[in-house]
Amino acid sequence: MHNANPDGDEAIRQTNSDAAVARLSAAQKGYISDPFVRFLLPRGAHLQPPRPPLINVGTYVRSEGIDQLVNQWLELCERDGKQCQIVSLGAGSDTRFWRIAAGARANVLAKYVEVDFAENTTKKAMAIRKSKELGVLLGNQDDVSLSNGGTTLHSPVYHLLPADLRRNPSESLAPLLASSSSDGSPMLSNALPTLLLFECVLAYMHPEDSDALIAWFVEYFSTEQSGVLGGLVYEMFGLQDAFGKVMHTNLKARNVSLPGVEPYASVASLPTRFTRHGFTTSHAITLRDIRRSCVNQSELERISHLELLDEVEELDLVLEHYAVTWGVKVNCVDAQALWREWGFKPSRN
Ligand SMILES: C[S@@+](CC[C@H](N)C(=O)[O-])C[C@H]1O[C@@H](n2cnc3c(N)ncnc32)[C@H](O)[C@@H]1O
Repeated sequence: MHNANPDGDEAIRQTNSDAAVARLSAAQKGYISDPFVRFLLPRGAHLQPPRPPLINVGTYVRSEGIDQLVNQWLELCERDGKQCQIVSLGAGSDTRFWRIAAGARANVLAKYVEVDFAENTTKKAMAIRKSKELGVLLGNQDDVSLSNGGTTLHSPVYHLLPADLRRNPSESLAPLLASSSSDGSPMLSNALPTLLLFECVLAYMHPEDSDALIAWFVEYFSTEQSGVLGGLVYEMFGLQDAFGKVMHTNLKARNVSLPGVEPYASVASLPTRFTRHGFTTSHAITLRDIRRSCVNQSELERISHLELLDEVEELDLVLEHYAVTWGVKVNCVDAQALWREWGFKPSRN
């Protein structure tokens, strides 16, 4: 495990506030719909001013791109007649579980597991306990429990777990996932299609630690013939240019470094995150290309009326430094055709 500098860790945990504030801002300005984010905002985050239009558009494209892939994942599971599991690593104050649970495909979810540093899971668990709106979607309140000093929350589908993802997963994650129910069955079934979400977290980890994490999940799902393991990463890349230098300098001033970005100089290099672990397919696309090719024209039109955005060239420059990478490992050859469909569909009018 690399970099356990306590100040650096606190700075990494704080990046969650930025993500949550950006989401709240985009929701308040009408870019995205997220009725849950306000209940999960870290302390003090409410007081921050809305983000500039460029950031709001970026949040919209990121959110739209990831939503499309996750929704399609749920749709493919439904078509296959299966429930699925989603594991969000470095979940922070993300609201995706509640958005799915309130949506049309809630029944497709067998498990939704979130992992973050204990400091962040404690705050999130408390926020969940305080909010009726969040609590009601966890199911019967008698089935919701806090444990391990308030760092952990279990409910029938949703689980919130504390772990440092840089530690050896056999020692950190494995005991947490071992069991959540009285019958002693493991929290994650290796027979259900399972999607790993890494939204803006791998940049803060050394590549060897992220590799060990992905390899551990690959191993976990390798023994079951029907096993399907998906991975979705949203991250910066290509930071060796002038834009990247400014970003590194800004983050350094906040005691944050980005060791996980280093190996990825180009968009073409990103799928190796998954292909080197034997994934059946993997692809990557920049946010710039998502905006151009995967967002419906009517949506682009709608968001263009929300705020005045002068800096269109600057927007492209920012968006071409962020990408979504996704891949799937399908153990059974017969099932591979279905899962090869997982990806972006061309946009409509
Ligand atoms: C930028 S935030 C993103 C939060 C969320 N995924 C989102 O997109 O809204 C990064 C999150 O990853 C978590 N994180 C980073 N490194 C971690 C590690 N080694 N172990 C556990 N969590 C980590 C941070 O605490 C933070 O909550």
